[in-house]
Amino acid sequence: MMEPLKAQLLQILSPYGQKHVLRFWESLTLGEKQALANQVQAVDFDLLARLAGETGKPPLAQGDIEPAPFVELPTDDASAGRWSRARETGEAALRAGRVAAFVVAGGQGTRLGFDGPKGAFPVGPITERSLFQVHCEKVLAASRHYGSTIPLAVMTSSANDAATRAFFEQHEFFGLPPDSVRIFTQEEMPAVDASGKLILESPRHIFMSPNGHGGSLKALWDSGCIEWLEDLGIDTISYFQVDNPLVKVIDPAFVGFHIEGAADISLKVLRRTIPEEKLGIWVHVAGEGRVVEYIDMPVEKMRARNEDGSLRFSGGSIAIHCFSVAFIRALNREGFALPFHYAAKKISFVDESGKTIRPAEPNGTKFETFVFDALAFAKRIVAVETLREEEFSPVKNAAGNDSPETARRDMSRAYAHLLDAVGISVGLDTDGYPLHPIKIARSESRTP
Ligand code: UD1
Repeated sequence: MMEPLKAQLLQILSPYGQKHVLRFWESLTLGEKQALANQVQAVDFDLLARLAGETGKPPLAQGDIEPAPFVELPTDDASAGRWSRARETGEAALRAGRVAAFVVAGGQGTRLGFDGPKGAFPVGPITERSLFQVHCEKVLAASRHYGSTIPLAVMTSSANDAATRAFFEQHEFFGLPPDSVRIFTQEEMPAVDASGKLILESPRHIFMSPNGHGGSLKALWDSGCIEWLEDLGIDTISYFQVDNPLVKVIDPAFVGFHIEGAADISLKVLRRTIPEEKLGIWVHVAGEGRVVEYIDMPVEKMRARNEDGSLRFSGGSIAIHCFSVAFIRALNREGFALPFHYAAKKISFVDESGKTIRPAEPNGTKFETFVFDALAFAKRIVAVETLREEEFSPVKNAAGNDSPETARRDMSRAYAHLLDAVGISVGLDTDGYPLHPIKIARSESRTP
C-alpha cells in the first residue's frame, strides 16, 4: 500500500503534471520525505501554472511612457530654501524617533561570486569593513546625532539568514543595541523549466529562490516588523539595498520631502548619463509615476536625447526609497499582489539517474517581484534628485563596472569631498579621485 504522505502529495502534484518531484521518494529518509512534503505543500500551484503559461512575457508597462518630474538639486535661493525646509522637517522627524532604516539583503549575489551574504563582503577601502558594518555605522551615527535610537530592519532569505544572523552576532551588531535590530526572511518561489515543471536540485529538494525584493513589503508585515515599528512610534521607513556602500542610510532632506509630500512611497533618482546603464527608470506611464526596469524600457526611449544632448528620460532609480508605515500596513490589510517578472537562469538539476547537471545555458525561469511595482498602489509619490558621486556605487560584479574596485574608489572620493567640506584638503588626481584611499568611520568602532 502507498504511504499516506506520498499519496497525499501525489494528489497535490498530479493535477499540475508535477509528479516527477517524487521521483526519488523511495530512496529518501523519513526526515527528507517530510522536508520535501513541506516544500510541496508550500507551493501555490495555481499561481505557478499561470506564471509558467505566461513565461517570456514580462509585465510591461502599458500606456504612454513619458519622463517623470523630480525635485531637482538646489540651483537658486528659492530651491535652496525648499531643500533646507525639507531638511528641517526630516531632522525634526528623526529627533522625534519617527524613522527606521531597512536594508534588503535577501539576494543571492551570484554576479559577485562571494561565498556568504553580500552584506558580509569586505568593501572598506582600507580596513575592509563589511557592507553591513558600513550601513550599521551610519545608523549608529544618525542615532547619536539625533538623540534617538533608529531601529534597523534587515531582510534576508532562507539561503543567507543563518549566516547573516551569525555575522551580526559575531560583530556585536556593529555597536547597535541588539534589540533595535530585527532580522527576518522573505518568501521563496520555485522556478520552472521550459515545460513548466518544477526543478529538482537534488533528489530531496525542489529548487527555490527568494521572491524578489518586492517580497519585502509582505515580509515586513508577516514578520511582525510593522507592528514592532508602529509600537515604537515609527511612521517612515528609509529603504535601501545592501549592495550600495555610498547610500545615505538616513538622509534628513529626503525624509523631509517624503513627509512634506505626505507620500506613500518616495524614491531617489540620479541623472542618467549612459543610456545602457542597468538602472530602473523613473517615468510616467499614462500619467502615473512608475519605475520601469531598463530591460523593459523600449530601446529608443532608453537612448532618446534632448536638444542639449542630455538623456530625455533623465531620472535613474537607485533603489533608495522612503515608505510610509501606514501605506505598508494598508497594502497588507487589503491584500495586495505585485506582478512577477521573469528571469531566464542556469539552474543545476538532477537527471533521472540522480546525477547533478550544471547547464551551460539558461534552462529555467525564476519569478521575482520588484519593490518599485508598489508605486502602482501609491496615491502620493515624491521623487528627489541625488548625486551619483555622493550616493551610488553598488557592488554587483566581481570586476569592471559596479565592482568592489569601483566602490572602494568612489568611497574614498566621497570621503575626500566630506573632508574638503570641513576644510581638510587631500591630494586629488586629474579625475577628482584622492591619491590615497581614505576611510571615515566612527572612531571607537569595535570591529576593524
Ligand atoms: C536593482 C534595481 C534597479 C536599480 C539598481 C540599483 C531590480 C530589478 N532592479 O538592480 O532598478 O537601478 O538595483 O542598484 O531590482 N534582493 C533581496 N531579495 C531578492 C532579490 C534582491 O533582498 O529576492 C536585494 C539584494 O540583496 C540587493 C537588492 O535587492 O540588495 C538588489 O538586487 P539585485 O537583483 O542585485 O538588483 P539589480 O538587478 O542589481
